[in-house]
Amino acid sequence: MERRGLGRTDMGASVLGFGGSEIGYQQVAARTVARLLGSALDAGLNVIDTAECYEDSEVLIGQAIRGRRNECYLFTKCGHARGWDREDWRPASLLASIERSLRRLQTDHVDLVQLHSCSLAELQRGEVIAALEQARERGWTRYIGYSGDGEAARYAVECGRFDTLQTSVSIADQEALELTLPLARERRMGVIAKRPLANVAWRYGRKPAEGYYQAYWARLRALDYPFLREARERAVATALRFTLTVPGVHTAIVGTTKPEHWQQNAAMLAGGRLPGPDFAQIRARWRGVAEPSWVGQI
Ligand SMILES: NC(=O)c1ccc[n+]([C@@H]2O[C@H](COP(=O)([O-])OP(=O)(O)OC[C@H]3O[C@@H](n4cnc5c(N)ncnc54)[C@H](OP(=O)(O)O)[C@@H]3O)[C@@H](O)[C@H]2O)c1
Repeated sequence: MERRGLGRTDMGASVLGFGGSEIGYQQVAARTVARLLGSALDAGLNVIDTAECYEDSEVLIGQAIRGRRNECYLFTKCGHARGWDREDWRPASLLASIERSLRRLQTDHVDLVQLHSCSLAELQRGEVIAALEQARERGWTRYIGYSGDGEAARYAVECGRFDTLQTSVSIADQEALELTLPLARERRMGVIAKRPLANVAWRYGRKPAEGYYQAYWARLRALDYPFLREARERAVATALRFTLTVPGVHTAIVGTTKPEHWQQNAAMLAGGRLPGPDFAQIRARWRGVAEPSWVGQI
């Protein structure tokens, strides 16, 4: 699998990474996660992203990669140790959360800890960044990053204290292509594309009940890309290749609960970057249709 240098870090990241939220929220069985990650590592995937609040995701990943820790880069996040709705940005809480992540992941250090979408005001106060720097000094993480979108992500790039940016990039979420990615590239930051398949939100015939999918579902109906009418597998391939063709993106962390989907996604990448005209068409359609309110989705 193709690898790209993750900005100025020493990591050569596989272009297809593993997003760990789904296995946690959907309570996937430990046996399935072991199969999923085992086959992914065998095929050359080396980026595994999770977070403090994806239910048991960290525990499941820790169990699944036990014995293979040195074959992958482990990324986690902090800021919501007691659940997504209960954010807590106090430095002591962030450090306690990172320590807990190490225990859950069964490792003595992670490769990257990211602030899990704190606000611009929180970033500007600076204590949250200092807490991550302290974790790095203690050897708990090799690098530090910001995960989020919009003006906060822009500040995270500008302030020069982060090694990486994790941000939403997909056929349904293109704000970052102008707001943050050109500058991140100039500053040699590692860029991790989250929600890279736009959650395959076009698969729903009607507005999905789950709020997380609704914005992308509505945007994709308006964008009405012709390729979304092709067979599901082909359309997913185009969506994934679009994200990985965006200048500055190093790895796309796809969430999946199904080992067979992981394999399909890896196979899709054999085609490499999207041809120039296809990429330009998707960009042109976005520019023509996107409304000012279509900002980066957390
Ligand atoms: N604020 C933040 O920091 C933040 C926010 C959101 C996400 N993230 C990170 O980004 C990762 C990815 O985000 P995400 O999972 O929301 O979005 P995503 O990767 O765009 O979409 C995941 C969805 O795509 C489906 N899928 C995957 N491969 C498929 C295939 N070959 N064919 C059909 N469907 C397929 C999965 O369903 P199946 O399970 O059926 O395969 C899943 O429902 C997360 O796991 C997390 O690590 C971070």
